[in-house]
Amino acid sequence: MSEALKREAAGRAVAEIRSGMKVGLGTGSTARHFVDLLGEKVRAGMDIVGVPTSEATASQARECGIPLSDLDTLARLDVTVDGADEIDGDLNLIKGAGGALLREKIVAAASDAMIVIADDTKVVEALGGRFPLPVEVNRFGLGATRALVQRLVDGHGTDGWVKLRGEEAGTPFETDGGHLILDAFFGRISQPEALSNELLNIPGVVQHGLFLNMCRKAYVATPNGVETLL
Ligand code: 5RP
Repeated sequence: MSEALKREAAGRAVAEIRSGMKVGLGTGSTARHFVDLLGEKVRAGMDIVGVPTSEATASQARECGIPLSDLDTLARLDVTVDGADEIDGDLNLIKGAGGALLREKIVAAASDAMIVIADDTKVVEALGGRFPLPVEVNRFGLGATRALVQRLVDGHGTDGWVKLRGEEAGTPFETDGGHLILDAFFGRISQPEALSNELLNIPGVVQHGLFLNMCRKAYVATPNGVETLL
């Protein structure tokens, strides 16, 4: 999907931002367009404050001139705008390919609304069929945590797998919070709520990339323009 189309989806989200708003700033290539376009508005006089979901987004936002704050200073935000890896018909999501899922989820949960911007390759019938679920885990007890996540994958009845992100390249990926990511391929996830609870019951799991009942609107870029999913 071309960057131009991602930018169009981002532009639709920017059009919803008004002066005075407190805005969660997502992470990833689509969110990058949003931050860039929002920066243009700020430089033209729009008065907003952003709360970034990653160090990468924080650094881009600073370069764009967007004033930043955090969730210690601002307990609630008006809206967060972020990308996604999979979006189902109920606007449930898989996120975390960029490794920012923990901060993304904290920021989205602190926001009155979450708007997702994506291209149409991200729209799926059921979550999990295409994309592995990122699971952020504590370094301590990694082997044991991985075995427990693998047990969940095996119990899901598919040819699933669990990989430590970055392991094959020799350097495990580290999140902004200093944690690791297990990418767990479940196949189609028929009961996302149940899986969410099972994952969060594993003590070494910090958070996972299932974003359930959090997003109310998605702007999806297609070759024929941007569609709004509600
Ligand atoms: C980062 C994310 C991203 O929002 C997601 O991976 C989508 O990224 P992109 O817009 O580059 O496809 O969840 O943790």
